[in-house]
Amino acid sequence: MPSKQAVALVHSDHNDSATIHRLERDAKAEIACEHNLKFMRRLPDESMSLIVTSPPYNIGKSYEKRTSQEKYVEDQAACIAEAVRLLAPNGSICWQVGNHVDSGEIFPLDILLYPLFKHHGLQLRNRIVWTFGHGLHCQKRFSGRHEAILWFTKSEDYTFNLDPVRIPSKYPNKKHFKGPNKGELSSNPLGKNPSDVWDIPNVKSNHVEKTDHPCQFPIGLVERLVLALTNEGESVLDPYLGVGSSAIAALKHGRHAYGCDLDKAFVDIAWDRIHQLRAGTLRTRPMNKPVYDPNA
Ligand SMILES: C[S@@+](CC[C@H](N)C(=O)[O-])C[C@H]1O[C@@H](n2cnc3c(N)ncnc32)[C@H](O)[C@@H]1O
Repeated sequence: MPSKQAVALVHSDHNDSATIHRLERDAKAEIACEHNLKFMRRLPDESMSLIVTSPPYNIGKSYEKRTSQEKYVEDQAACIAEAVRLLAPNGSICWQVGNHVDSGEIFPLDILLYPLFKHHGLQLRNRIVWTFGHGLHCQKRFSGRHEAILWFTKSEDYTFNLDPVRIPSKYPNKKHFKGPNKGELSSNPLGKNPSDVWDIPNVKSNHVEKTDHPCQFPIGLVERLVLALTNEGESVLDPYLGVGSSAIAALKHGRHAYGCDLDKAFVDIAWDRIHQLRAGTLRTRPMNKPVYDPNA
């Protein structure tokens, strides 16, 4: 298998499709306007350390056609099968999903899709709850204010870097009050584990990262996954790239970014954001910035 560096060059340099953005656009990114199965099938086995994405939810957004649940799951199964083929032995897949809604009944997509990952023998490490403060105000059920990230690994030997994603401890100066360590700091000076509940604002109209995409996820959400689940120089793929939030998170931290989207307008925005990142002008919400509390 070619080295990860070589993979980036080979795939950025071919010219069999007019829609592929060429190497000169960004040496560490291969971004295409293309169906994800076609894009993924060109990539070599086990070449990605992290595959992180948020697929359509089959709820009739502007970028998707509503279809039957069976067909939706079938399409997801095809994409997940390719993702498993591309995943490095010590790599991770993170599938960020909310609910499919039909006639007021909700179908949590993580429940629906979990068996597809288990079918390939993947192991669930966390079901991360992403909670946020804003969204639709429901009249006949409680308003939804969370989505899920299913984090799977291919093996028991997987990359997990906790230190880069620690968050400030609540009581950083707290000391052991008895025992052999009495008087010493009881918590890690680098901060604490961020847990599996992440309170990160979703990208609504007043968010600094907002683009024309109706459902982009915050870059800080992906940054945490990139830092914890990959090492510098490794490759990160998003097969439903949208406006490139995953690619930005990867490139920001010295990883290679791969991704595709069917919509040319979104791919163009993704490239604009990458160029802004490289120019140092891209505005992003800092990864661990506390959520604004009007009562604080
Ligand atoms: C929920 S959005 C992802 C948004 C992304 N996380 C971001 O931050 O911009 C899903 C995206 O998948 C794209 N899409 C849907 N089906 C696709 C397919 N088969 N191949 C590639 N992209 C697809 C849509 O155009 C849409 O932009």
